[in-house]
Amino acid sequence: MKIGFIGLGIMGHGMATNLLKNGVDLFIYNRSKVKAIDLIEAGAHWVDSPAHFGEVDILFTMLAHPEAVTAVSQGSNGFLSHLKKDALWVDCSTLNPTFVKEMAKQAQAHHIRYLEAPVAGTKPQAESGSLVFFTGGNQADVELCDPFFQTMGQKVIPVGEVGQASSLKLVVNLMLATSMAAFAEGIAFGESLGISQERLFNVLIGGPVTPPYLASKRSKLETQEYSPQFPLKWMHKDLQMVSLAAYESQIPMPIAQTTKELYGQAIKAGFGDNDLSAIYAYLKA
Ligand SMILES: NC(=O)c1ccc[n+]([C@@H]2O[C@H](COP(=O)([O-])OP(=O)(O)OC[C@H]3O[C@@H](n4cnc5c(N)ncnc54)[C@H](OP(=O)(O)O)[C@@H]3O)[C@@H](O)[C@H]2O)c1
Repeated sequence: MKIGFIGLGIMGHGMATNLLKNGVDLFIYNRSKVKAIDLIEAGAHWVDSPAHFGEVDILFTMLAHPEAVTAVSQGSNGFLSHLKKDALWVDCSTLNPTFVKEMAKQAQAHHIRYLEAPVAGTKPQAESGSLVFFTGGNQADVELCDPFFQTMGQKVIPVGEVGQASSLKLVVNLMLATSMAAFAEGIAFGESLGISQERLFNVLIGGPVTPPYLASKRSKLETQEYSPQFPLKWMHKDLQMVSLAAYESQIPMPIAQTTKELYGQAIKAGFGDNDLSAIYAYLKA
């Protein structure tokens, strides 16, 4: 079976590397070819355009946002017009449910099968092959992809029909975004009251009010080294999609909106390409 992969950023590069290491016949494309060089050297086939994936049976995409997915999938150079009939497109990007449903419709119009499979986990999990996949779509397609999901991840959670996995992913990221911001604000607040950062970390991390994942952000805050595992600008993007989905389902989300604006301000102040934990640096500045 021939497998395609488009989008070799922080997450996609680790995922594609794991497929390749496990003997998958892999065809790759990224807007910036430089991110593909080591994979090509390791045996992946470089594809010079999204329009040239006609040979693959399954195409994975891991792209920044709806605009990026549109850029590579639609139009005369988009892969949808060129994939072979009945090929399967598996989109792992974090997207809003309405957009995902539209992509499924577009795929169907081109006789392409579609599965959404957004992931939980960040750069280290993408590199170590321990992501969690949320799937939305046909169960037979989930089963077909299972060996590949198991190579890139440790768990697959079938959520339901197309749109449901993205919906669940947005719930998870809303919790991530708000808890990261609350933690950063709490630490900054405690320090302003004269409590040492070390004491705050020692009490809060592992304690009942702090989500366990925040322990992994301690060293970033301590060393002020904010190289991105999860870029802050993509968390803002995810909150924008939460906002859009909330508008569509008519639910008020005041905490999500405030948090979105906080991340937006941090981007404006130059923190967008940093890890999302740099929200602490923004609050301190
Ligand atoms: N990082 C995480 O912790 C994490 C965790 C779970 C889910 N996610 C989600 O996974 C997706 C990828 O995130 P990432 O962290 O890997 O981001 P990233 O490193 O910024 O990679 C983004 C990818 O999208 C491509 N891209 C962006 N704009 C494009 C356009 N207009 N046309 C074509 N390609 C475009 C980039 O190509 P270039 O290389 O040419 O820029 C790159 O391949 C996002 O949806 C994100 O929300 C991320």
